[in-house]
Amino acid sequence: MKSFFVGLTSVVFLASPTSASALEIFKQTSASYDFQKLKRKKIKFPKKGKEVRQLFDVQYNKKIFVQGFDIAKVIGPHAQGMDTLLLNFANGMSVPVPINSLSTEPVFLATGLAKSKKGPFKASFPSIAKFDEMIRDPRPITFSTNKIVYSSKTYIPSQSLFIPFKYTDSLQEIEIINGPSREKALAFRAKPSVEKGHAIYMKRCQYCHGVDDRGAKFGRDFVDPIPMYTMKTPENLLTHVKYKKIDGIERGLLMPAQTNLTASEAKYIWEWMKAAAAK
Ligand code: HEC
Repeated sequence: MKSFFVGLTSVVFLASPTSASALEIFKQTSASYDFQKLKRKKIKFPKKGKEVRQLFDVQYNKKIFVQGFDIAKVIGPHAQGMDTLLLNFANGMSVPVPINSLSTEPVFLATGLAKSKKGPFKASFPSIAKFDEMIRDPRPITFSTNKIVYSSKTYIPSQSLFIPFKYTDSLQEIEIINGPSREKALAFRAKPSVEKGHAIYMKRCQYCHGVDDRGAKFGRDFVDPIPMYTMKTPENLLTHVKYKKIDGIERGLLMPAQTNLTASEAKYIWEWMKAAAAK
């Protein structure tokens, strides 16, 4: 009987929500980006500096009252020598943000939400049940104790093609990094002949899909365990990315359609996937 209670207590303990302080900040300490996460140092999350703002949010598609941190102010003092923030989310998404874009495309880390400026601010953010007018998402985006509030209509690294912050959940980790060194590490087996495909991957896919266990882990890895190029032809890829919405209900609509993908872009991505998988 005693052991039963011990077990129960630990389950209750594990089930309690992770606190906002679980969010961690790291800075790259080597010239090359390290996916093993060994060459980096931990930075203390600031205890002060919370602000109250009324901001438009691309996920809720309306203005909300939030309390939290302006990412540029929190990270600024630690960013010397680095040019990019990599925001890693609970759902496996990894979104790079160039530090010099934060002045025009700010990123706010909300730790509380309220109905008015006066509060009370609660670390509770309604989940998002649908992306599209008519299609209900059976697997909604849910938040734990924080949420990124993004207000801009563009996201510079994707050259306005795509805003990854529409699909992110709660932030788990901020990495202060050298962006080009990570890009290089993600292109590890890609030859110059497939550079175009790699560039399209960096603009459209890297936020959710990793390559050979490097990078994001929301969608399937493009190389490991089964190379994606063996499962999909360039035509399949085009259909999958461009018209994803059509089979949204069956598939959970986890991957949003990018309706402006062209057939030649799909071909370039496929060729790059093949090169990346060549061992
Ligand atoms: C916002 C996140 C996100 C982005 C961006 C994204 N994907 Fe996905 N993708 C997913 C998720 C999640 C899945 C698995 C569930 C599904 O199919 O919806 C997936 C599934 C896939 C599949 C199907 C895999 C299978 O097992 O059948 C392919 C192919 C694919 N993605 C290719 C791409 C390509 C190519 C890009 C870039 C042009 C891209 N994705 C961009 C999240 C994303």
